[in-house]
Amino acid sequence: MTQGEPKRVAILGSTGSIGGSTLDVVRQWPDRFDVRALAAGGNWESLLAQVIEFRPRIVALRDAGAARALREALSVADAVSSPPPVLEGEEGLREIAGGDGLDLVVNGLVGSLGLLPTLAALESGASVAIANKETLVMAGEPVMAAASRSRGELFPLDSELSAIHQCLRGNPEKAVRRVILTASGGPFRLRSGPDLASVTPEEALAHPTWNMGPKVTVDCATMMNKGLEVIETHFYFDIPFDRIETVVHPQSLVHSMVEFVDQSVMAQISAPDMCLPIQYAMTYPERLPSGVRSLDLVATGSLTFEKPDLERFPCLRLARDAGRTGGTAPAVLNAANEIAVEAFLAREIRFDQIPGVIEHCLERCVGHPEPTLENFLSADGFTREEARRAVRDLRSRAHARGTAS
Ligand SMILES: NC(=O)c1ccc[n+]([C@@H]2O[C@H](COP(=O)([O-])OP(=O)(O)OC[C@H]3O[C@@H](n4cnc5c(N)ncnc54)[C@H](OP(=O)(O)O)[C@@H]3O)[C@@H](O)[C@H]2O)c1
Repeated sequence: MTQGEPKRVAILGSTGSIGGSTLDVVRQWPDRFDVRALAAGGNWESLLAQVIEFRPRIVALRDAGAARALREALSVADAVSSPPPVLEGEEGLREIAGGDGLDLVVNGLVGSLGLLPTLAALESGASVAIANKETLVMAGEPVMAAASRSRGELFPLDSELSAIHQCLRGNPEKAVRRVILTASGGPFRLRSGPDLASVTPEEALAHPTWNMGPKVTVDCATMMNKGLEVIETHFYFDIPFDRIETVVHPQSLVHSMVEFVDQSVMAQISAPDMCLPIQYAMTYPERLPSGVRSLDLVATGSLTFEKPDLERFPCLRLARDAGRTGGTAPAVLNAANEIAVEAFLAREIRFDQIPGVIEHCLERCVGHPEPTLENFLSADGFTREEARRAVRDLRSRAHARGTAS
């Protein structure tokens, strides 16, 4: 990209919550970005509307049937005179991510399938703005190694990691004493432990402060989301686990903090809106005006902080333990969590059974101390099978008792 030319961007997961906010940033700065490629899972109707608006040169859908439907719709769409090629499958996502001539790939995919496209983008020399935290949790070492070999840079999109990135700007990393990640506490912060057994998917999907996709919303409700971010922070900033703390901050205005060796604490504070960390990463090192609402601290009144309750929300502890164990343990944690959340949303297991499925997999799946990329991928695969077995066992036990699971 030469000075003054728009950044050539690919957006993976363009039909999701992060994808939608990324396109809002593009709408805000149309001269700065050229949307070259878009990719999603199966929502071809939304992708069709995005093709009409943003005119990408190539698109991909993971689902082959949806890709066929999009090709048909594009062939008869009056608004599109020369339809872009529509790739399909995981291969299609990787091809989009590693495509020639991209400056920036925004990864807003959900789940571990974000890993290989991230590596493909970094290997091609593009920068990657990554919301897909599962990638760094699953295979932090190879991803950070690929980022350091790449001509491109890796930028975090998670609001907490973006906050840390912003606090560290202009400060030497060796001056960091600890980082403090904030968590909203989710919708069940004040619910008693026994009451968590009756939580429905609808209740878990009603996040008090953020509007996000279903998987990350359930992760916030179990506090696994914070656990995943602890691991992400460890890999991205190369900070030991005992210097990463978490506090519950229900107002979701302080997005995270860094304490330096002189005991000075820097915090990044703003209204909770993902457009801000996304725009920060997409326009880095510039800072531009955003459409995010300005903070009125007087109207806000008070900012509160609490200790997370690891008894009621054991996922945070499980994530820390898996992070400290290292090797493939975080990949096992991540895969087990993906299956457990899927099973909860499908009403196959109860909300309070999610941590049990993860713990079972962490005990059963033997970790690899110095894993290669292949080892991370196979840990992901075999954990999914083990987690599905654990879900089936829970269901049959519930049926045997004659109760709904
Ligand atoms: N949302 C947030 O505010 C937020 C904040 C911080 C971090 N994150 C992280 O960002 C990632 C995305 O979150 P989100 O909330 O944007 O999720 P989301 O709304 O569920 O969107 C997920 C995107 O990924 C696509 N996708 C889903 N399954 C797929 C598959 N099997 N193959 C290919 N594409 C697939 C979806 O396509 P279809 O729509 O076609 O299915 C959609 O475009 C997650 O890792 C999350 O933890 C999100």
